[in-house]
Amino acid sequence: MRTQVGIVGAGPAGLFLSLLLQRAGIDCVVLESRSRDYVESRVRAGVLEQGTVDLMADLGVDARLRRECMIDAALDIRFSGKLIHLDLPGMSGGKVAHIYGQQEVVKDLIAARLERGGALLFEAEVSRLDGLKSGRPTIHFTHGGKAQMLECDVIAGCDGFHGVCRPAIPADVLTIYDREFACGWLGVLSESPPLAEMTYANHDRGFALASRRSPQVSRLYVQCDPDDDVANWSDARIWDELHIRLGDPGRVELKEGRIFQKGITPVRSFVSAPMQFGRLFLAGDASHIVPPTGAKGLNLAVADVRVLSRALIEYFKTGADARLELYSDTCLKRVWKVVRYSTYMTTLLHRFPGQTAFERQVQLAELDYVLNSHAASTTIAENYVGLPYEED
Ligand code: APR
Ligand code: PHB
Repeated sequence: MRTQVGIVGAGPAGLFLSLLLQRAGIDCVVLESRSRDYVESRVRAGVLEQGTVDLMADLGVDARLRRECMIDAALDIRFSGKLIHLDLPGMSGGKVAHIYGQQEVVKDLIAARLERGGALLFEAEVSRLDGLKSGRPTIHFTHGGKAQMLECDVIAGCDGFHGVCRPAIPADVLTIYDREFACGWLGVLSESPPLAEMTYANHDRGFALASRRSPQVSRLYVQCDPDDDVANWSDARIWDELHIRLGDPGRVELKEGRIFQKGITPVRSFVSAPMQFGRLFLAGDASHIVPPTGAKGLNLAVADVRVLSRALIEYFKTGADARLELYSDTCLKRVWKVVRYSTYMTTLLHRFPGQTAFERQVQLAELDYVLNSHAASTTIAENYVGLPYEED
């Protein structure tokens, strides 16, 4: 097999990239280790920046999004019985966030890729990459029980945090920046009407978040220990903690319902640099992960492939490789700003084990400052809806 761009991974990064390249007439093949059903059912976050929604519209894959998404025009932060209410469009020049589950985005992208006749192989497990410093790198994978090889001009490593592409870069070339926070997020989906706004809470007992997937389905999170087990969390305990931490002790605001999905997510920041090596270019979680507090994982993957697709299109159309050479530097500018914001929100909203009385007072003072400062609250709002793309 042979193609111009071999794309490893059919998550948001790989799928958005494949549609952007295909539209420009660049041949690409997507290799995904899992089944279609599996990737379309993986429950992830659901906050889309305006830039992500605009890209879906630009690619003509936003019809269902327009019908089904929910609009986040405000962001609430509750603490010590007080409420920080952020008017997102008023604080960001009119931008809002869109609530639409990542698995829904993946479904729409896969449908479009297949409808447009793009090559997308499921249950194609990539085992190794070769020749990254040559002009003809190869991807080795198994599909249908057979060992196969894909010859490429370029490889896009979009295979997520646990993929094989980042490890294909020699360890002495990579610099790893890693911070594991001393907490996890227990996330649930419930058949219950959501709160009116996206609501974060900093409570003495820990962080909580009330989000949503539809007018009938809530997406709810409570901070837990990083090595906690879902088995330790009965439905009753989850609802108890949500009512308390969200400031609803009378249990009148937050409606309960059947919990039909539970899972624990680690809270971690990880960046590997550079994001390129020879003919290999990493995008999305393959290169970086951010704490879920900022709801930025999918949106950062989109930002990477916007840069990568533009650089690849220029290269294949004109032979100019200046943008490709600057790919990693260009992406990392945004990556670190998003890591900054996600780290700030994580530190602001969680109660970490061992937090001293001094640190708690500083944290509460920060929340009070945001409550009373237009500048501080505007900073959160403009990051939540998504910073402008600098390279435009
Ligand atoms: N061969 C082929 N495919 C692979 C391999 C492999 N060896 N290893 C991983 N994959 C696939 C995974 O099955 C997954 O479908 O690569 C895809 C990577 O997708 P994501 O992990 O979703 O990463 P990305 O596309 O960068 O999107 C980032 O997804 O995980 C969330 O929180 C994350 O919101 C963020 C977003
Ligand atoms: C979600 O809806 O899954 C969500 C919302 C906000 C976050 C993280 C996740 O910060």
